[in-house]
Amino acid sequence: MLIEAHKVWKTYQRGSLQIDALRGLDLELPVGAFAMIVGPSGGGKSTLLHLLGGMDHPTQGTLQVCGMQLERASEADLNRFRREQLGFIFQSYNLIPSLNAVENVALALLAQGQPRHTALQQAGALLARVGLDSRMRHKPAELSGGEQQRVAVARAIANQTKLVLADEPTGDLDDTAADTVMQLLLELNRQLGTTFVIATHNLRYRPLATHWLELHSGSFSTG
Ligand SMILES: Nc1ncnc2c1ncn2[C@@H]1O[C@H](COP(=O)(O)OP(=O)(O)OP(=O)(O)O)[C@@H](O)[C@H]1O
Ligand SMILES: [Mg+2]
Repeated sequence: MLIEAHKVWKTYQRGSLQIDALRGLDLELPVGAFAMIVGPSGGGKSTLLHLLGGMDHPTQGTLQVCGMQLERASEADLNRFRREQLGFIFQSYNLIPSLNAVENVALALLAQGQPRHTALQQAGALLARVGLDSRMRHKPAELSGGEQQRVAVARAIANQTKLVLADEPTGDLDDTAADTVMQLLLELNRQLGTTFVIATHNLRYRPLATHWLELHSGSFSTG
């Protein structure tokens, strides 16, 4: 299994208020899965993706991703895991404001040691695939929400990592742009065997999913 989670709890403490965002989740996903997590706002989708991406520790439970035992990993190990094994599309994009679109994508490739020239060329090709050929030199503040989202998608898939975690990658897109992005992710899944875990509110994509996980109040319901 590429992902194995057992009895994972995440409890947030806000003053005297305790929120159990995840309540004892079990999850197993094989290499090559195209998994979708759906469910109401506040159900725990982003929390789960952050834990799978080693961006936060579970309060309880065990979590193995790409052979790494995340709940007991050091910060240094988690940093390396994120950089080398993982593509992540954040719900809030997390683009670097001072860099333009093509530089934001190229940065991921530069971090893997690619020369600047090929990194920029590849980043440009990826942006073209998500329909942003004419927006390469725009900075995030000069892009619409949906355009920023597509830059974030291009950045997350640039390194062709084995695993991509995507938090509502089509949330700000119209149906046509959303379908383009989803088709691109599916192509990577089918051609390269990239494993995807995608949080989405878009129930239209159910037929594409190898695993369909409904998350309500921190628990999976079968459906
Ligand atoms: N850093 C935090 N501190 C305290 N509570 C948090 C924190 N992050 C999330 N929560 C709470 O945990 C629960 C799950 O939130 P989460 O963001 O995982 O939901 P979601 O399914 O991604 O929702 P959405 O569909 O709106 O993105 C919510 O009740 C939220 O208020
Ligand atoms: Mg969310």
